[in-house]
Amino acid sequence: MLSYRHAFHAGNHADVIKHLVLVLTLDYYQSKNKPFWYIDTHAGSGLYKLTGSEAQKTREFAQGIQALWQVGQIPASVQTYLNLIRQLNPQQDQLHRYPGSPWLAAQMLHPTDAMRLFELHPMDFRALETLFGDNKHTQIRKQDGLQGLLGLLPPITRRAVTLIDPSYELKSDYTEVISTLAKAHKRFATGTYLLWYPVISRQRVRQMTNELQKTGIPDILQIEFCPSADSDGMGMTGSGLFAINPPWLLAKQMREVLPWLMERMADASGHFTVQQITPEKRA
Ligand SMILES: C[S@@+](CC[C@H](N)C(=O)[O-])C[C@H]1O[C@@H](n2cnc3c(N)ncnc32)[C@H](O)[C@@H]1O
Repeated sequence: MLSYRHAFHAGNHADVIKHLVLVLTLDYYQSKNKPFWYIDTHAGSGLYKLTGSEAQKTREFAQGIQALWQVGQIPASVQTYLNLIRQLNPQQDQLHRYPGSPWLAAQMLHPTDAMRLFELHPMDFRALETLFGDNKHTQIRKQDGLQGLLGLLPPITRRAVTLIDPSYELKSDYTEVISTLAKAHKRFATGTYLLWYPVISRQRVRQMTNELQKTGIPDILQIEFCPSADSDGMGMTGSGLFAINPPWLLAKQMREVLPWLMERMADASGHFTVQQITPEKRA
């Protein structure tokens, strides 16, 4: 039984870093003007009310998107992401809504692109159907997203961005995401894969990094944003993404943007990482 509900966490620091990386990646894919698929293995419900009881109970968005709302100077790489949030909140005095990954992607795709969404929770699945059910370029499946991903590869477009964003409710998720990526990369080596992970235990992050390095997949960039110091047993102090075949500009963009995010969202013990954990493949 799935108990995780993203509505409690929407717009928190982890969503900000994940969605910023996603928007920058999709922006790059769009710039090539060739059709691609966006695959979201753990889609969530697509849209969240920050004024709703779930978000108000934790108020995690206060340290996340709220801290970037109505700030003056915004780095160029954050503009598209923040413009999309503004589009959802036209009355800019207050943040009412925050998007999920499928909503952000839907705004950025061209009519020739397509979305493939997986979501197991019945309520979130229904919410996705309400949001995107009429869109003929979008398929929504109530199916395990990791298995579903493998069934889609290679995509007919031969171009795809995949977001893997599990809730890690099951400890086995940590190993399953890596073995799925290894299989996915064998079927379709040129796609971009973004794997999100929480920083709850530093040892677990090291294990994931080592396991990914052992797969032999080249060109993996690790981006991590921790608003507080690591602290085993104190919950999630940060989060990160492993980006396989990242857009060539992404590392530079993140090195520029992360200090700006730190100033607004982190305490004095916060830290960030942008590092290549496996080398780029030479042509
Ligand atoms: C972290 S949330 C996703 C948030 C979303 N990607 C976003 O950025 O807005 C994880 C979602 O995965 C769903 N889920 C859990 N296990 C799943 C599985 N095996 N396959 C597909 N979805 C799953 C949960 O119900 C939850 O809605």
